[in-house]
Amino acid sequence: MANYLEMSTEELQAEEKQLRSAYQNFKNMGLKLNMARGKPGPHQMDLAMDLFKTTDYTSEDGTDARNYGNLEGLYEARRLFGEVMGVKPENVFVGGNSSLQLMYFLVSVGYTFGFPESPCPWSQVDHPKFLCPVPGYDRHFRITEEFGIDMINIPMTPEGPDMDMVEKLVAEDPTIKGIWCVPQYSNPDGYTYSDETVRRFAAMKTAAPDFKIFWDEAYIVHHLTDEIIETPVLLEESKAYGHEDRVFMFTSTSKITFPGAGVSALACSDNMMKYVCKRFEVMIISYDKMNQLRHVRFLKNKAGVLAHMLKHRRRLVPCFDAVKTTFAQKLTPCGDIAHWTNPKGGYFISLYVMPGCAKRVAQLCKEAGLVLTGAGAAFPYGKDPEDSHLRIAPTYPSLSEVEQASELLTVCTRLATVELLLKNKV
Ligand SMILES: Cc1ncc(COP(=O)(O)O)c(C=O)c1O
Repeated sequence: MANYLEMSTEELQAEEKQLRSAYQNFKNMGLKLNMARGKPGPHQMDLAMDLFKTTDYTSEDGTDARNYGNLEGLYEARRLFGEVMGVKPENVFVGGNSSLQLMYFLVSVGYTFGFPESPCPWSQVDHPKFLCPVPGYDRHFRITEEFGIDMINIPMTPEGPDMDMVEKLVAEDPTIKGIWCVPQYSNPDGYTYSDETVRRFAAMKTAAPDFKIFWDEAYIVHHLTDEIIETPVLLEESKAYGHEDRVFMFTSTSKITFPGAGVSALACSDNMMKYVCKRFEVMIISYDKMNQLRHVRFLKNKAGVLAHMLKHRRRLVPCFDAVKTTFAQKLTPCGDIAHWTNPKGGYFISLYVMPGCAKRVAQLCKEAGLVLTGAGAAFPYGKDPEDSHLRIAPTYPSLSEVEQASELLTVCTRLATVELLLKNKV
């Protein structure tokens, strides 16, 4: 292998021929692989089955968890999530199995009613807007798209979103009502915001009095190394600037216990807690407290959560390593044709191929039996302006499937690159 960027047309043509033959071999295998699904594998969920050993559903204060009541959640569940997120139990609202649903609900509240400090509901604002660090989580973007809220791309860096750009935009434009953030082990790059980025989020001045930070801590305990990375707690940091009402923090046990049957949580200021409870109260009498209690009994406290996550890590690390090792062996010698992230936690690796190649790589993979998340999916409206990003999810398939999928992906990346380079030579 040699540097593709230094190859003559003839050399590229010879390389293309070899790659087509390797690609055809993969096609002949009739593979059925999938690296699109950011979900835990069955072995990870098996680890939490003891949760169902709970038979006593009386909470610490004597509440019968089987009945209606405790809209904000059982105290011990609020305490557990408070420990995990670094806030007081009183600032935690425990929801159903999905944090995404809590996010949808709060955008819907902003849109329909506004918040106490809103001049008017967001629906009455001419072109309300959200900032979207990119690449990001497609389902965040689908929520704002559904409400017709315009989305503005903000480039991501290993320290977090481009804060110069964020600060400038929010200071100037009162129609910008919020931002989507995944501060720890971001989806999909696996970046963790720096302390300075968190401080700037807490301190920044916004033209909109009702600007909200949707701070999605989906991967707050999903460490893949011995380094237990912890970032400053945005809700607490914001208090120093009197900005705590702008913060909505979220997390869930979807990737700790069960994605379909876990527990979610929202953390917010005392003021916001009162306000959102008034809104929740009309929609629901109380969430599933039996599941809350099962989770508390099983996970116990933050130390219990971290101990449980260590078991996940044992299964996940070899899968992440397989992807990165294959990329290094098969792509690095070809020159600067791709780069990828090296996450210290979370569920994804980002692969950046040459601009104009991502869709083609995904198509080649698909035709050979490997499904990837659609190219562009990590951008608002599904549009990657560079057509260069691919999100790799190594968690669900078995290790041998991940190895095979990574090999195929490197062949497709190289083939798409050679095709592009040859086209550019004409
Ligand atoms: C960043 C992020 N937030 C939220 C979710 C979904 O969370 P939940 O299952 O709690 O709705 C995911 C799932 O992939 C995610 O990656």
